[in-house]
Amino acid sequence: MSLYQATASAPVNIACIKYWGKRDTKLILPTNSSLSVTLDQDHLRSTTTSRADPSFTKDRLWLNGKEDEIKDGGRLATCIAEMKRMRKELEDKSPNEPKLSSYNVHICSHNNFPTAAGLASSASGFAALVKSLATLYALPASPSELSLIARQGSGSACRSLMGGFVAWEQGTSPNGSDSLAIQVAPREHWEDIHALICVVSDDKKGTSSTSGMQRTVETSPLIQHRIRNVVPQRMRDISEAIQKKDFDTFARITMQDSNQFHAVCLDTDPPIFYMNDVSRTIIALVVEYNRVSVEAGGKLKAAYTFDAGPNAVIYAPKENIREIVEMIVNYFPQADPFKDPFGLFGTTGVQGGVVSGFNTAVAKQFAVGSVKGLIHTRVGDGPRVLGAEEGLLGPNGLPK
Ligand code: DP6
Repeated sequence: MSLYQATASAPVNIACIKYWGKRDTKLILPTNSSLSVTLDQDHLRSTTTSRADPSFTKDRLWLNGKEDEIKDGGRLATCIAEMKRMRKELEDKSPNEPKLSSYNVHICSHNNFPTAAGLASSASGFAALVKSLATLYALPASPSELSLIARQGSGSACRSLMGGFVAWEQGTSPNGSDSLAIQVAPREHWEDIHALICVVSDDKKGTSSTSGMQRTVETSPLIQHRIRNVVPQRMRDISEAIQKKDFDTFARITMQDSNQFHAVCLDTDPPIFYMNDVSRTIIALVVEYNRVSVEAGGKLKAAYTFDAGPNAVIYAPKENIREIVEMIVNYFPQADPFKDPFGLFGTTGVQGGVVSGFNTAVAKQFAVGSVKGLIHTRVGDGPRVLGAEEGLLGPNGLPK
């Protein structure tokens, strides 16, 4: 009796040009194209094991150890059904292949970062799910083809099927066949792009992306301007900046687009607020840090961006991360020592401080815990297929 099982991991991505708004909510077709940086799975990832077996009585899924219902017609069910459909096509062409498409599957998924950190896990989660099923089913599908399926799990997930710098082309077809992810550049093209995630404490339950963006599409006049007149040019400009490794342009567009995304949230009726005082203070610090550089004749040295929550992601060339960590820690004292995966600080550790010429009055110091943690990572690669020893399901087909 063979064991039909595969395990894959997939990365988180953080958009520079934000996806916000659907033209088709069932197929998850966006109102604008978007572009993101894939982050390194060495630091943040979802890992998923899928197994097909004739003895399984239904499709089942466990997320971080807890069983999740697979609702009929829901996003998970859609992704699993699409993958089985692709497997069936392959079986119809190659009659000697085992009929895995007729078996139920058990899927077990795990994130290596706490959900409490407030980092979106749906993108890496759906990407890992699709990659593990594609491996299990031995599908000859390209990352772009798989992105079509992951998109139907969660829009932003389609961009986690590739490493480096990834665009989600909105497409024009009503059936979604051209709404897919393409790689603008692999990580090797511009490995110097690092990211510092500032995990901002947040106790209130925010508006989900799914419902928030729908309300924006229904009520915001500003989003129409964004869709028609702003995003298309920005997509071209930031892709060119990536090709040229022009951090100054990349940073300017990234910050402008984060700002406009939060502006269309404010323009929604009733308004949606994702950033808080801590988020806005991080903006002020990055702005001042950049001002010092530009006034001395230099370039932008960092770019902030915020998704549907208060956490900040700061993109910067590696050489600037040390100064940025010192600056953030200066205003947001940390309870725990900074985990320094790139060994920037040696044995002295982080002292807290700002670059010379920095106007310290742009912000006040916050209490310990306002920024709960800092995660230093960088641009990363696409999904990885893992060995059997990393499988998350035990011999009985249940989570280990
Ligand atoms: C602000 O992909 O979570 O992070 O398609 O409804 O699942 P659904 O939404 P989701 O939205 C992400 C929105 C964002 C911007 C981005 O990642 O581009």
